[in-house]
Amino acid sequence: MTVILAVDQGTSGTKALVHDGERTLSVVEVPVRPAYLDGGRVEVDPLELLQSVRQAGIRALREAGDPPLAAVSLANQGESVLAWDPSTGRPLSTVLVWQDGRAQDVCAGMGEHTELIRRRTGLVLDPYFSAPKMAWLRRHATREGVVTTTDSWLVHQLTGEFVTDATTASRSLLLDLDEVAWDPELLALFGLDDEALPRVARCDEVVGGTSMFGASGSGAEVPVAGLVVDQQAALVAERCLDPGMVKCTYGTGAFLLGATGDRAVRSAHGLTSSLAWSLRASTGYCLDGQVYTAGSAVRWLVDLGLLSAPDALDAEAAGDSGGACFVPGLAGLAQPWRNPEPCGAFTGLGLATTRGRLVRAVVEGLAAQVATLARAMSADIGVPVTRLRVDGGLTRSHTLMQAQADLLQVPVDVYPSPHATALGTAALARLALDDELSLPAAIDGWSPAVSFEPAWTERRAAEAMARWEKAARSAAARRDDT
Ligand code: G3P
Repeated sequence: MTVILAVDQGTSGTKALVHDGERTLSVVEVPVRPAYLDGGRVEVDPLELLQSVRQAGIRALREAGDPPLAAVSLANQGESVLAWDPSTGRPLSTVLVWQDGRAQDVCAGMGEHTELIRRRTGLVLDPYFSAPKMAWLRRHATREGVVTTTDSWLVHQLTGEFVTDATTASRSLLLDLDEVAWDPELLALFGLDDEALPRVARCDEVVGGTSMFGASGSGAEVPVAGLVVDQQAALVAERCLDPGMVKCTYGTGAFLLGATGDRAVRSAHGLTSSLAWSLRASTGYCLDGQVYTAGSAVRWLVDLGLLSAPDALDAEAAGDSGGACFVPGLAGLAQPWRNPEPCGAFTGLGLATTRGRLVRAVVEGLAAQVATLARAMSADIGVPVTRLRVDGGLTRSHTLMQAQADLLQVPVDVYPSPHATALGTAALARLALDDELSLPAAIDGWSPAVSFEPAWTERRAAEAMARWEKAARSAAARRDDT
């Protein structure tokens, strides 16, 4: 049996899952609590991230009975960055989380390069991606050490190596998407041309060995492989391998990804394009659209006292919103609306708006934003999204999943495990250990745990979407200086 310790280092926690190729032997999750500060800043202590990885990994192995490990794999948050000292591994800054909007000044000075950046990287000039945050750290925090995404730092802690993987690099605004190589012109545009950059590894590559978790059986180091962005890991686990297959993961944010095959598509409808996987045998691309606050919008409702607990959505959402509408722009709005400033909004409130109706409006607001992105995805890939595959913590909410089916007007299929990301990165590690294994053979087939059929009429859905789109347009137009 080939036992993998799969680590999913996410925004709100680190999950470690031990899998023997057939079964999940244990899962341990250690929460991480980013600080949400004024000015759209979102930070987390790098040592808290590292500690969560170490603790989750050690505890998961212990719970699984300390089996001999074949590999450790790692999924990461994608666009969160920090400065660190490569000679000691010591952090030199806090982690600027992907939701952090402080680097919008960096982007504001680069407007003339928008089209070049879009063509070269498949992304848009936005502080969500890594490079603006890296440039911000260089201008305002430190000139020392290296600035990288969190995966490079964590892998350095695990193995001593200086690498990132191609999917993570493709979220940086510094990678030529078609060549899969750092781009000197883009590095110069961001003032990052003197930086030492991590080597770009494939997702099915052994990048080094680790003894961090102590359980290799023989005491030797365990290979580290299966590096990938968490969203791409979930795309793999959900078996969205063929062009046109689409999934949405509802985590801290909600992320809609659709496979586009071995070719990067430049979106004509406001989505972004990235690497889905980079393997010995193939390179896959995907289109993606983002809702920056999903789980964190629900957590915000709890913090405000409008919801008693994150898993109380089904119990506490009213049957209808009574005309109230919510735009989940609490950490800005992504494409196609694009406002990097916090611009969340409730509209249509009246004296009949109850707490439960506000909760319902948040549920429908999240579903409406995903529905808009899914329609943009259909337009880009040229075939309608006829079913939506979904995973992530918020899929436990039947109210949200039903709203998703109602507003998108297609059935929604819920992935049967709450651990898609960890299972995806484990599959990639298996590819690294076995040259003969193909990507489809490394992933289990699945049937939905539950499916939701649209219950609303087309007309009711169209009216609700039109109301939400109007609210989103007006939220996106609101800026501090207007
Ligand atoms: O782009 C950020 C995203 O990949 C973070 O995922 O699971 O932490 O919401 P998650």
